[in-house]
Amino acid sequence: MSFHQNKPDEIFKEELNDLHSAVKDAGHDYHLFTIATVNDKVPEIRTVVLRDFIIKKYQISFHTDTRSPKYSQVKSNPAISALFYSTQKRTQLRIHGNATICKDQNLLNTLWSNLNKDSRECYQGEVPPSGNIPKSKIINDTSSEMNGFENFSRVSIEISTIEILRLHHLGHKRLLCDVLKDPIDFQWIAS
Ligand SMILES: Cc1cc2nc3c(=O)[nH]c(=O)nc-3n(C[C@H](O)[C@H](O)[C@H](O)COP(=O)(O)O)c2cc1C
Repeated sequence: MSFHQNKPDEIFKEELNDLHSAVKDAGHDYHLFTIATVNDKVPEIRTVVLRDFIIKKYQISFHTDTRSPKYSQVKSNPAISALFYSTQKRTQLRIHGNATICKDQNLLNTLWSNLNKDSRECYQGEVPPSGNIPKSKIINDTSSEMNGFENFSRVSIEISTIEILRLHHLGHKRLLCDVLKDPIDFQWIAS
């Protein structure tokens, strides 16, 4: 596509396909992303792994520990932002949406059974995520009493908008895509 061609739907589709590929490709720039939640009135951000993207539903998901602060934060305020950046494509995706917590025990069972030992250990810590490690220790012990599954959860983000910023020496392109509108509303915005 030439630089000046005005085809927002093509840019949008390309980014969706990239997000989809990034789920299974650990080397993809979009495999890791940042999520921002609200803790009372204070923003909190952290890195998570992209575990699923259902294109038709505009829904992305990550795994987390139910004992973690981010889990309680999205329970009390589901407003969430996600940020992806690809150095290769010089493209930033800024997503707004609402977090939902997976209640499907069969799905959680299947996801858990597909996790390797190292990933499961992340959910077996004696001290909950972001809790203080007892004095004289520097890393969290895994608990012999916990299987980890009891702490395992999947959080999904129901996307409302995706903003695509593509850096280019001829001029940066910034496209706001409102996926709640039917048809999707595309708006070029200043960078
Ligand atoms: C590369 C990387 C990937 C991470 N992936 C996840 C993840 O998928 N889920 C998660 O809960 N925490 C993940 N973390 C840890 C979080 O960034 C964070 O430090 C931790 O979950 C505590 O966050 P909280 O106190 O805001 O809940 C990851 C950290 C890094 C550096």
